[in-house]
Amino acid sequence: MLAVVGLALALSTFATWTVQLARVEERIIGEFEHEIGELRAYVTQRPGADLDTLFKGYLQVNAADRWETFFTLLDGQPHLKGYGEAPAPLDQDEGLVRQAGLAAKPTVGPWESRAGEIRYVSMPVKIANDARQGHFVIGIFYEHHRQEVVESVRVLALTSLAALALAGAAGWFVAGRVLAPVRMVRQAAERTGDSSDLSRRLDVVGNDDVAALARTFNHMLDRLQRAFAVQREFVDDAGHELRTPITVIRGHLELMGDDPAEREETMALVTDELNRMNRIVDDLLTLAKAEQPGFLTVEDVELADLTVSVIAKARALGERDWRVDEVAEARIVADRQRLTQALMQLLANAVRHTQPGALVAAGSAVEGDRVRLWVRDGGHGVREEDRERIFQRFVRAGSRSHQGAGLGLAIVRSIAEAHAGRVWVEDGARFVIELPYREVPE
Ligand SMILES: Nc1ncnc2c1ncn2[C@@H]1O[C@H](COP(=O)(O)OP(=O)(O)OP(=O)(O)O)[C@@H](O)[C@H]1O
Ligand SMILES: [Mg+2]
Repeated sequence: MLAVVGLALALSTFATWTVQLARVEERIIGEFEHEIGELRAYVTQRPGADLDTLFKGYLQVNAADRWETFFTLLDGQPHLKGYGEAPAPLDQDEGLVRQAGLAAKPTVGPWESRAGEIRYVSMPVKIANDARQGHFVIGIFYEHHRQEVVESVRVLALTSLAALALAGAAGWFVAGRVLAPVRMVRQAAERTGDSSDLSRRLDVVGNDDVAALARTFNHMLDRLQRAFAVQREFVDDAGHELRTPITVIRGHLELMGDDPAEREETMALVTDELNRMNRIVDDLLTLAKAEQPGFLTVEDVELADLTVSVIAKARALGERDWRVDEVAEARIVADRQRLTQALMQLLANAVRHTQPGALVAAGSAVEGDRVRLWVRDGGHGVREEDRERIFQRFVRAGSRSHQGAGLGLAIVRSIAEAHAGRVWVEDGARFVIELPYREVPE
């Protein structure tokens, strides 16, 4: 960037230099033309005068400027000199005198004098009543004007250089300041990447883009931390829950004697425990899958059919007063197998918490833009304070008489949420799954 600006400045300096020199050249030519005109006018206004009188008179009325000198030649020899202090006496420069004496018409040229380069014009003057050949010569000390240009260009170049250095320093400083927070974010990201500590956060200062970046980064860390915490909790719970059946199995196997009857009994117990473990592992896998995309395989589901068929399946679970409350004549886009799995979990709970012959019912209904599926039973129901809690993993409420792991309702909730719905329990033992209802086009 700095190089580009530097190049631009160098180019502009060079352009200034060339343009200024051209101007000097132009000005000199203009001056010469002006003088030629003046002299011509002077001569024509004085007919009859000889060359001496004409030159003397003209030099008297016309004084040379500071960096200019006039002189005249008669037959190629130095004749008169104008007033004024010239940097060098040009009429004593033999070469120039010879060159100027040869001019047959106004001639302009460069010359290398003792005071440096000059521009001169030599005007031949010839009049009727004077046989001699006169020349009027003007010399302009070009070197002086060139020096002036050099001086001004040097000043320009130096100021440009200073400005460039200043701009460079300022740019460096500003870039450093702007990039410092970005560097901070990067370092923090690196630190987080290196360690397993996700609790660090960036300091958010101000309200600019960098602050927004830091804030986004912090949000990302929040989410990561939460996700990791949930995962760790999950693994802890699972490990804890699986340890119990393992302990039971080991205890039985260690104490097993040689008595065949006792062996049989132990085998039955161990198999039972292993089955339970198997179920827990299956349920945990279902819960883990529910966190991932592709959990649902959706299709058109007839709610009436679904409701009736789960009750038909559940009849095998035990001797109950099985009923269908009502059925919705509607179809939804959903995962039929997962919904069946959820309803079966609810029905299994209902059976577990009721006595033979008690009421267990299921139903479905459309309510506006939602559909509801429910399972209710005539059992003791869920206490008010447990109604939220029981949907968490590994949470069991009430008596510990049964062998459940406490995963059933967590699975029901995962399935409901995967369908953008929710689940709750009301009036003691009525479990409701509510899903959004979008009519399936015929
Ligand atoms: N129909 C019901 N009536 C009364 N209490 C219930 C009913 N359904 C569930 N609960 C309570 O909710 C708790 C959690 O149920 P959940 O289905 O999650 O676990 P579980 O049935 O104990 O074990 P799992 O389903 O994993 O075998 C149960 O322990 C029970 O106390
Ligand atoms: Mg259950």
